[in-house]
Amino acid sequence: MKKSSTISFFLFLLLIPLLASCSEKQVYIVYFGEHSGEKALQEIEDDHHSYLMSVKETEEEAKSSLLYSYKRSINGFAALLTPEQASKLSELGEVVSVSRSDPNKYSTHTTRSWEFSGLEEGEGHGNHFFKMGGDLLPKAGYGKDIIIGVLDSGVWPESKSFRDKGMGPVPKSWKGICQTGTAFNSSHCNRKIIGARYYLKGFEKQFGPLNTTEDYPSPRDKDGHGTHTASTVAGRTVPNVAAIGGFAHGTASGGAPLARLAIYKVCWALPGKPKVAGNVCLMEDMLAAIDDAIADGVHVISISIGTSSPVNYTDDGIAIGALHATKKNIVVSCSAGNSGPTPGTLSNPAPWIITVGASSVDREFIAPVVLGNGKRVEGQTVTPSKLNPKKMYPLAYATDLAEPGVLRDNASLCLPDSLSPKKTKGKIVLCMRGNNSRVGKGLVVKSAGGVGFILANTRANGAEIPCDPHLLPATAVTYKNAMRILEYINSTKWPRANILPGMTVLHTKPAPFMAAFTSRGPNVIEPNILKPDITAPGLNILAAWTEEDSPTKLPNDPRIVKYNLVSGTSMACPHVAATAALLKAIHPTWSSAAIRSAIMTTAIQKNNLGLPFNEEDGNLANSFSYGSGHFRPAKVADPGLVYDASYTDYLLYLCSIGVKVVDSSFSCPVKPPTAMDLNYPSLAISKLNGTVTVKRTVTNVGQPKSTYFFSSTPPSRVSVKAKPSILFFNHVGQKKSFTITVEATSEKPVTSKNDEKEEEYAFGWYSWTDGPHNVRSPIAVSLA
Ligand SMILES: *[C@@H]1O[C@H](CO)[C@@H](O)[C@H](O)[C@H]1NC(C)=O
Ligand SMILES: *[C@@H]1O[C@H](CO)[C@@H](O)[C@H](O)[C@H]1NC(C)=O
Ligand SMILES: *[C@@H]1O[C@H](CO)[C@@H](O)[C@H](O)[C@H]1NC(C)=O
Ligand SMILES: *[C@@H]1O[C@H](CO)[C@@H](O)[C@H](O)[C@H]1NC(C)=O
Ligand SMILES: *[C@@H]1O[C@H](CO)[C@@H](O)[C@H](O)[C@H]1NC(C)=O
Ligand SMILES: *[C@@H]1O[C@H](CO)[C@@H](O)[C@H](O)[C@H]1NC(C)=O
Ligand SMILES: *[C@@H]1O[C@H](CO)[C@@H](O)[C@H](O)[C@H]1NC(C)=O
Repeated sequence: MKKSSTISFFLFLLLIPLLASCSEKQVYIVYFGEHSGEKALQEIEDDHHSYLMSVKETEEEAKSSLLYSYKRSINGFAALLTPEQASKLSELGEVVSVSRSDPNKYSTHTTRSWEFSGLEEGEGHGNHFFKMGGDLLPKAGYGKDIIIGVLDSGVWPESKSFRDKGMGPVPKSWKGICQTGTAFNSSHCNRKIIGARYYLKGFEKQFGPLNTTEDYPSPRDKDGHGTHTASTVAGRTVPNVAAIGGFAHGTASGGAPLARLAIYKVCWALPGKPKVAGNVCLMEDMLAAIDDAIADGVHVISISIGTSSPVNYTDDGIAIGALHATKKNIVVSCSAGNSGPTPGTLSNPAPWIITVGASSVDREFIAPVVLGNGKRVEGQTVTPSKLNPKKMYPLAYATDLAEPGVLRDNASLCLPDSLSPKKTKGKIVLCMRGNNSRVGKGLVVKSAGGVGFILANTRANGAEIPCDPHLLPATAVTYKNAMRILEYINSTKWPRANILPGMTVLHTKPAPFMAAFTSRGPNVIEPNILKPDITAPGLNILAAWTEEDSPTKLPNDPRIVKYNLVSGTSMACPHVAATAALLKAIHPTWSSAAIRSAIMTTAIQKNNLGLPFNEEDGNLANSFSYGSGHFRPAKVADPGLVYDASYTDYLLYLCSIGVKVVDSSFSCPVKPPTAMDLNYPSLAISKLNGTVTVKRTVTNVGQPKSTYFFSSTPPSRVSVKAKPSILFFNHVGQKKSFTITVEATSEKPVTSKNDEKEEEYAFGWYSWTDGPHNVRSPIAVSLA
């Protein structure tokens, strides 16, 4: 007996260090770049196993630590490693990078309606009617042979937006599968949803087994986000749809209504968190999905997922995956993020990605507030009003209704339990935006006995109004209007108000304007590439929704909807992905760079009043929020010239920034071109000292014989010259090179301290014109 207890004592001692090292193990992605294509899949997996064996004690341990072996286009693996093992692997010559997977890094770019730094992220509700314009749709056959991969939270296949009635057979080029799982069988794929897969390994390694009440272990979407983005990019045309309360009634259609969808579910409900907190997407799962999508034969990938702050390319699963997609000329469209209006917050900045910002549409949901003094203050809502139109209700600022002992700030935001039911009962209550969710604030007012709710923008929110389906009569007001209401409350002893029923109003002006939430440049990962590339509708967009969750995602909201209004750069990204799909149908031989160039150089920078775009606060917007401008689908098919770039050009670019070679069939030249020389349809020069000359090449895709003239509006304090300044073409496909010289003509301005990043840059543009075409490129320059 004694002996055995001694043994267990020793065992215990031995176990302590083992347990300690176990607990340190985390998921790492070991990335080798593109594989040469010479090895069989099994051989590559064996290689990965050998690498693991080199740092693991046993065969068994190596096997069990491997999550994914990426081997179809991407060469790499995801495995459980200790930091020591990871660093050992990163020292090997063949390894491009080893990144730890951070479970908090990626999420979908919408509706994380919890607010950050006091400023709202992009959740909201309103509406948009997809306007493709011109003859793009019929010319592209509505996208019928194009396959669009969507990385997101899955799909609700029963939605009318995904019916396949009248659609032709699945394209022969398709090599993907319909993976079945809970509540998703092979019948849920059809000629619209031609493929579906889901990726759980990374998620479960980080968070433990999926709680099947919180999400489906299958391609089915419980969240709604994936259904929304998939139906925006390629939903069928469905007449007579509307958001809750009948708002935004009309026909809903995806951008490429006959294109095929391949669903890759990579985002999952955050375990143990309220649904409104959003979802999480793991880098290792996304890499597996992109590797499959490339091999499955998709033409376009739409990814409304990203980080909330910038990440280097080799630590970014989306950037890595998209690079390999680019080799196969697959267009990758990604959301810019919802971390605006703070500068330098941009997500997905890689130059082989189309980075999409978000702006408003020309539709509002007018619901004014009538004040006791007879004045009307404009507001917007998509919540049906049940207030008596003949009656005036007592009105109060939430701060004045605070429970004893509660901070005034807490009450002004209508944080949970901050309002006194005694004081709130029967009143219309004004709450400020920020910190907790907008619908949550309404609920706080309702639970305290309020009869109506006014959501007031802060100064930072400006005029950007997200419309939510609140649980009590409500309207949302701009910052200026909020101040008017507060002044009225101050001016009288018995403030009174009513909220008039909401109405959908079309063709509102000015539109578009930039959404406050859209993430801004400068591009801190690569200051010499201007990002975002483009802006598209992302404020109050109507699209299909899951029938498994309420439109507000609040636990006590029992409502179920088929279509929902949501905001975010997540909603903007699939608009551009759809446009790329239609372009691909019209010009099947164009590279992904040529497609992006056509979308960028044909963009517009003026609103429907003919004035330059504004920010949501009324200030003039610039290329750090809209890139080249607002996409213009009617113009994209005929851009005149394109700035083309190949996979090799991106590899050269990576050489120039010192990233290890990611393709064994390629080696960096001794003197790689500078990052600025990447043939990009826009131009950013950071810290210009004296003169910089960049090289560009355009390809004629318009009239065989044409002459293009250069013109420019330089950013302030610099001059911009092209050489030559006239380009002659005599056949389609002809390439012409030119240089652009940017010279500082005066001293750097003295920057005001609190706005340094914004002050530094000045904006302008240059263009090539032959009459019918105006091939325009934005310029952003900061001086040294
Ligand atoms: C709201 O959030 C901001 C930023 O996170 C924080 O500084 C502030 O204290 C919060 N306000 C309240 C009342 O919780
Ligand atoms: C798939 O599930 C649906 C119910 O959701 C059922 O009607 C259908 O028969 C199933 N199909 C197959 C092939 O199992
Ligand atoms: C699963 O999620 C539900 C709903 O959030 C929760 O009530 C339940 O406790 C969870 N189960 C486990 C095992 O965590
Ligand atoms: C990116 O990489 C550079 C150089 O390796 C490093 O200095 C920088 O901190 C990294 N940035 C981020 C956001 O990881
Ligand atoms: C104010 O709200 C914060 C949460 O934002 C909470 O932690 C704090 O206890 C509240 N304080 C008071 C005095 O209401
Ligand atoms: C209303 O009155 C309060 C207290 O007197 C003051 O702090 C606030 O600035 C006033 N608000 C407006 C909009 O006039
Ligand atoms: C600009 O270039 C000149 C000459 O190369 C150098 O002396 C100067 O320090 C540079 N200025 C800045 C601000 O980098």
